[in-house]
Amino acid sequence: MPERTILITGACGEIGQALIEALSEDPQTTIISLDLKTLPGHLTGKTTHFQGDLLAKDFIKEIENKYAFQEIYHLAAVLSTTAEYNPSLAHKVNTGITLDLLELAARQSQQIGSSVKFLFPSSIAVYGMPDLETKSSAPPVKETQWTEPTTMYGCSKLYCEKVGSYYSDHYHQLDDQPPIRIDFRALRFPGIISAFTVPSGGTSDFGPEMIHFAAQGKPYRCFVRPDVRIPFMVMPDAVRSLLELSKAPLEKLTRRVYNVTSFSYSARDFQKFTESGFPGAQITYQPDLPRQEIVDSWPADIDDQAARSDWGWKPKYNAKDACQGYLLKNIIAHYA
Ligand SMILES: NC(=O)c1ccc[n+]([C@@H]2O[C@H](COP(=O)([O-])OP(=O)(O)OC[C@H]3O[C@@H](n4cnc5c(N)ncnc54)[C@H](O)[C@@H]3O)[C@@H](O)[C@H]2O)c1
Repeated sequence: MPERTILITGACGEIGQALIEALSEDPQTTIISLDLKTLPGHLTGKTTHFQGDLLAKDFIKEIENKYAFQEIYHLAAVLSTTAEYNPSLAHKVNTGITLDLLELAARQSQQIGSSVKFLFPSSIAVYGMPDLETKSSAPPVKETQWTEPTTMYGCSKLYCEKVGSYYSDHYHQLDDQPPIRIDFRALRFPGIISAFTVPSGGTSDFGPEMIHFAAQGKPYRCFVRPDVRIPFMVMPDAVRSLLELSKAPLEKLTRRVYNVTSFSYSARDFQKFTESGFPGAQITYQPDLPRQEIVDSWPADIDDQAARSDWGWKPKYNAKDACQGYLLKNIIAHYA
């Protein structure tokens, strides 16, 4: 296989760290990573890391001048809760940087003479269920339904999906000779749970936080009602879905944006699992109403049939395997 150079932005985040671990197993792959933060020590030697702010145009330019990328995994973002506190920053980071990187990918597609693949993690935050009754009675939501986000984060993800698809299918459509276009592919992720990293700034964090707090013997006050249910998946499945979508032959794809999911869990389901694994767990509920409303606007379940039939997506971990097989074992070892 020819050598390839891959760019990962937001590389020091939860998904970025797991993605570097997975991609670095291929000796033919050179990874270039970018983040505001320094690289965690366990990733040293697996990537060439540049620390800096992607809002600084000369930072992106410097990287573009040094490397030609075949694939870009653009993970850097301001997450949902943080974005509500600072919508203007969220707009600049989540949409502005995405546009800059789409432009970079478009230029490099011309230079190397083939489409740069652009992998984008979108979110169930692009959905907006109008009320709880609709949420509880709706069948698993398909990609084209209920795309009425109520958060800055959801709006920015939906915009990036649209503009990324534009760069792939219609960019410079009025030119006499349209350029070689990029190959944009996006996944609408549910809440993602890692056994090794703790999320921050997201609104689906109540699940992973509950387990990680219990594993450390800390009491946890849950910010949503016990009955609140949204879809989740564990980190190994999330990373695998990104890599599988990246490898899928273009002609098999009937869309540029796919739902992927594994299991739907309520806060109470997480509590039951947490108490079974950590019998002394101290979990109480104190719903934060505005945050609660955001979670209420996200679907209880999403339909990932298109990903299953187009490129063979199937989660490895259902709820039981995720909790017993992946989370419990690894979290206990992690904090031991
Ligand atoms: N974790 C989830 O449950 C989940 C679910 C759906 C979608 N996503 C999406 O996946 C992507 C990665 O999520 P994550 O959980 O790893 O997030 P994270 O917050 O753990 O990581 C994001 C990283 O982006 C970096 N970053 C932010 N602004 C930057 C800037 N201006 N310049 C350089 N780096 C910057 C941060 O330093 C951070 O390391 C995000 O786009 C997120 O929206 C995550």
